[in-house]
Amino acid sequence: MTTVLKLGGSVITDKTDPETVDETNLGRAADALAGRTDVVVVHGGGSFGHHHADRHGVSTTAGTRDPEGVRAIHGAMKRLDAAVVDALADVDVPALPVHPMSAAHRGTDGSLSLPTGQVRAMLEEGFVPVLHGDGVVHAGEGVTVLSGDELVVALADALGADRVGVCSAVEGVYGDDGAVIDRIETFDDAAGALGGSDATDVSGGMAGKVQRLLGSAAPAWVFGLDDLGAFLDGGDPGTRVG
Ligand code: IPE
Repeated sequence: MTTVLKLGGSVITDKTDPETVDETNLGRAADALAGRTDVVVVHGGGSFGHHHADRHGVSTTAGTRDPEGVRAIHGAMKRLDAAVVDALADVDVPALPVHPMSAAHRGTDGSLSLPTGQVRAMLEEGFVPVLHGDGVVHAGEGVTVLSGDELVVALADALGADRVGVCSAVEGVYGDDGAVIDRIETFDDAAGALGGSDATDVSGGMAGKVQRLLGSAAPAWVFGLDDLGAFLDGGDPGTRVG
């Protein structure tokens, strides 16, 4: 059984402080992953990617042709990826870094092409691939942002994953009454309750997340860090999407 798990940037970084890892939360996430090899990990940008993307006016649709700006975004994400791989290595997870910008591209309509043969082969050889939100070359735009949410859906579909997990800074998707919604099967189920994200986030907040996850063939769960272990054990925490 293959699981694709996203660790939200807001979980593993301090989103208010540029390029700051939340070591406590990253350690907790790594502990929950200890002993597992049937998982592909993707992490978001948090205070690494979003800070640089914002400074250079880059989003998932608005690109840049400034190579320095692209290197700043990609370099920051590689530093965060190294921190995630190191934290996993510390608990003996056989983690290997995979940098999406080196392999992916978008067409003029924004559609993503993402080779995944290497990810599949790593899994088959017992490794845990660790990908990250990144810059992606985009026909007609230069380079745009490739979010971790887009990556988990593309990976889950390409790998035929059984489950998708999005470990976020909240316990699930909140309804109008302030309680976590158990299950969202269509966007309309939660449309009224889905606002934007308050901190700097160039890739759409919770509404964009839910919309992307509904496009995945595999069922997805949005949950907080306290529930990561329960999710990895096959449980049904937070909000099921799809
Ligand atoms: C953003 O990835 C990556 C960059 C800004 C380069 P995500 O959009 O998945 O990041 P988080 O989880 O919201 O921080």
